[in-house]
Amino acid sequence: MSPVWINLSYLVSAIFFILGLKGMTRPKTAVRGNLYGSLGMLIAVIATLLAAEVVSYVWIIVGVLVGGGIGTYFAITIKMEKMPEMVALFNGFGGAASVFVAGGDLWLRGALPPESMSTSVIFSTALAGIIGAVTLTGSLIAFGKLAEFRFIKKLKPLPGQQVINGALAMLLVALTAVMVNNPGSGWYWLIVLIALALGYLLTISIGGADMPVVIALLNSYSGLAAAATGFVLGNSVLIIAGSLVGASGLILTQVMCKAMNRSLPAVLFGSLGPAADGPSADEVYTNVKSTSADEVAMLMEVASSVVIVPGYGMAVAQAQHAVRDLTNMLRERDINVTFGIHPVAGRMPGHMNVLLAEADIPYDLLKEMDETNSEIEQTDICLVIGANDTVNPDARTNPNSPIAGMPIINADKAKTCVVIKRSLSPGFAGIPNPLFSADNALMLFGDGKQAVNDIIAAIKEG
Ligand code: TAP
Repeated sequence: MSPVWINLSYLVSAIFFILGLKGMTRPKTAVRGNLYGSLGMLIAVIATLLAAEVVSYVWIIVGVLVGGGIGTYFAITIKMEKMPEMVALFNGFGGAASVFVAGGDLWLRGALPPESMSTSVIFSTALAGIIGAVTLTGSLIAFGKLAEFRFIKKLKPLPGQQVINGALAMLLVALTAVMVNNPGSGWYWLIVLIALALGYLLTISIGGADMPVVIALLNSYSGLAAAATGFVLGNSVLIIAGSLVGASGLILTQVMCKAMNRSLPAVLFGSLGPAADGPSADEVYTNVKSTSADEVAMLMEVASSVVIVPGYGMAVAQAQHAVRDLTNMLRERDINVTFGIHPVAGRMPGHMNVLLAEADIPYDLLKEMDETNSEIEQTDICLVIGANDTVNPDARTNPNSPIAGMPIINADKAKTCVVIKRSLSPGFAGIPNPLFSADNALMLFGDGKQAVNDIIAAIKEG
């Protein structure tokens, strides 16, 4: 295929990428958006395979079969609640791909006359190596934290960690300058090694509840690494696609920062602290009152407004269809039902929206956190299903809490709050929740899906 046709195909792919991103801004058009994105990628891949530079298809086909096979296997078998872990891992693989492609290109250019390497290409190579390597180790740690691996939880930041981070960043700048004047694979891999350490250190210090910001940022980094690799290869579609991922990831990072009430520089320089020691569960849980599905059904029968606050536990229990049935039942009885959606509920942006849309819950029942909070004091029942950190009043009242300052849904201010979860175990941030001991709170212990089904059965019987 001639370069003109290849560039034209790349332009068409870029248009599909932009249409895809636009589609993914609303749940109704998200599936179409996803298809546009995939189509754009297919066109880009086919155009690249038809380029004259391809000398042999054997290794390409092996790579496509192995990579495509693994990707297809994960896409088909992965459970919905494990999706965030997979996304974190794939961000890391994107970073690794940039490191190896840029490193491979540098190695090939080593056999060519020195003039073939312009300063901008060497600089882009170093940049792809740095951002890609930071993304790789950062994402692996994020994956470990999301999967709640114990050994990852035990890893602690080093004393004076921020000084070390700053020193490593400066060392990377200095080594990049050295490499620009003296291009060679040795310098490149030294840079990659240091960037791998920096990615690890930047992410290990992030406290549990702040992970959403980091994941959005790593997503952005993976795009920027790909864009830098695009400059190395002179490949326009890689530059465009990488920049789109980088920019949209950065916007998402800002949205997450706002949702968590964190500053972007604090995230960028890795200065968000790890969870501090707070009061023990025994000190907090002094007034826990457990309830039954029958009692909750009786409360519902006399309520005129119910706000349902879903969290990660709803995803684990796959309770969304039962929640839809309960919603329909209550609405048929003229009870006003809405959903309070916290922006970081679950384990990925929009996690709750995706689950509720899957169960065909009307989108206009979903309210943002601020709207829910503005009405919560007049709400008869706040039904919390598998949410914990996102309804923890410690964020509002305890300045020493690791989640201090994070906006929450004020479930403790509803007339009555019913919390469905299996035990008094903490949520992702690993801290006790005074809501469970609040005067207005009743705990319905059990699996989310089973508990909601039990409430439905009790309402039917009543
Ligand atoms: P969490 O604070 O993680 O709490 C989830 C609760 O669900 C747990 O306390 C657990 O208690 C309960 N649960 C688990 N399985 C259940 C089941 N089968 N039935 C009923 N309950 C079950 O949830 P959240 O309020 O949604 O907060 C999300 C947290 O994840 C935040 O800290 C957030 O920062 C973090 N995070 C979010 C993201 C994004 S982007 N959303 C990404 C990374 C991290 P039991 O074990 O007692 O049942």
